[in-house]
Amino acid sequence: MTDEEERMEVLLDHYRSPHNYGKIENPTAELMEYNPVCGDTVQIFLIVENRKIREIKFMGRGCSVSQGSASMLTDLVGGKTVDEAMSIAPEQIVDMIGLPLGPSREKCALLPLNALQKCLKKAGFGKV
Ligand code: FES
Repeated sequence: MTDEEERMEVLLDHYRSPHNYGKIENPTAELMEYNPVCGDTVQIFLIVENRKIREIKFMGRGCSVSQGSASMLTDLVGGKTVDEAMSIAPEQIVDMIGLPLGPSREKCALLPLNALQKCLKKAGFGKV
């Protein structure tokens, strides 16, 4: 298996068996983001305590890149500070996926990060 095939497998595993999938009752904040081009969605639920992400879950409907990226992102930011989460740059998400993505697939990959950062803003944690 080539590196690229392995990364594709990892992404598809996240898509088929997403980590941290579901809803949090009484979250600190929740937010639904959608891709206007295709209508796919990612909804983020957060519990924040002492400026740390104590729990994160997501729900969504969409392509393997958007939903796989959401699963990987929730693994990445669980337990991190809100400042660390707000500082994640789009390039880090593209690196995390590790596959060549054209501009439209890149939008799919970044949908969860946009949802997370908007959700943190909604919870009162502005851009650092
Ligand atoms: Fe809709 Fe990927 S095709 S988010």
